[in-house]
Amino acid sequence: VAGDEKELRAPICCILGHVDAGKTKLLDCIRGTNVQGREAGGITQQIGATYLPAENIRDRTSLKAETAIKVPGLLVIDTPGHESFSKMRSRGLSMCDIAVVVVDITKGLEKQTVESLHLLRCHNVSFIVALNKVDRLYGWKECTNAPIVEALKKQSDDVKSEYKWRLTKVVTEFKENGFNTAPYYENNKKKKVVNIVPTSAESGEGVPDLLLLLVRWLPDIITDKLAYDDTIECTVLEVNEHKDLGTTVDVVLINGVLRQGDQVIVCTKQGPVTTIIRDLLTPHPMKELKAKGAYKHHKEVRAAQGVKIVARGLQYAMAGTSLIVVKPGDDLRQAEAAAMQE
Ligand code: GTP
Ligand code: MG
Ligand code: NA
Repeated sequence: VAGDEKELRAPICCILGHVDAGKTKLLDCIRGTNVQGREAGGITQQIGATYLPAENIRDRTSLKAETAIKVPGLLVIDTPGHESFSKMRSRGLSMCDIAVVVVDITKGLEKQTVESLHLLRCHNVSFIVALNKVDRLYGWKECTNAPIVEALKKQSDDVKSEYKWRLTKVVTEFKENGFNTAPYYENNKKKKVVNIVPTSAESGEGVPDLLLLLVRWLPDIITDKLAYDDTIECTVLEVNEHKDLGTTVDVVLINGVLRQGDQVIVCTKQGPVTTIIRDLLTPHPMKELKAKGAYKHHKEVRAAQGVKIVARGLQYAMAGTSLIVVKPGDDLRQAEAAAMQE
């Protein structure tokens, strides 16, 4: 990083939308994984976190090697769409910089889509719409991983006209909810009008467009909020029992650096628990944190990242609370009291 250029942390992007709109499947398509296929009942029940390095994003788009991506990567947060998980959706949203709202093109805006829009407005978070399942349009001709404009050109007049009226309907529904939207390839007011990217998580049409738009659009919203600093912001996602590692806690490191040996405080129903980080693990890039897979060990981890922390005494840590790092010179009692106050 050049001396005068500020180091930017990876932005956090939250995926929101109604149940079964295709949020997890879209991520599977980007990652080349099958997380969705292994979910109980095909329903996401926990917040997920996946790190997409800039190089992998570049590979999936038409970005040339010499075009700089201004961020080291993107941390994507998958959320459940089922109505009973509204707490997790708002938790996911509260840690994100930007969002993707996934809408099923055959269904239009649904109850939790509208709920998501409400949350986005409250938190003042910018977003892109992925208008998913275009392959479900009757007679759709599959064009695997093609940019959407190319794929649309190859469709019959019937498909094109079904696409057109469904798109118009969705744009109207967004308007009714107070948002101006337009398909991104026709949108010349990108700052005022929300971009819609038609996608198929099944055959990948529009997925390169979505990734490209995300990284292109990021510089617009890279404000001070992505300037890296040492303040540690870290949210507990869930506690796990691991057969070799013992109790671990999955966290999203939103800002700052976590190191092995750090003294940390977690909140439990019984009060604060202070412990030492023994190990820091991350899944491999493009893999889901909560999927049981192989992990990489780290001496330190920089934000933003989904991290599995190994330490004693974590078993009662409460999801959604902050993990606090005790700095040299901090008064432990005060830090514990502050941790519990949140
Ligand atoms: P929740 O996490 O439970 O809210 O659902 P979700 O939004 O993550 O949707 P999910 O990825 O579970 O997909 C729901 C169903 O739709 C699955 O059967 C997917 O295979 C299917 N699906 C998702 N995206 C597409 C798509 O683009 N095309 C087609 N044909 N099917 C899709
Ligand atoms: Mg899901
Ligand atoms: Na689902």
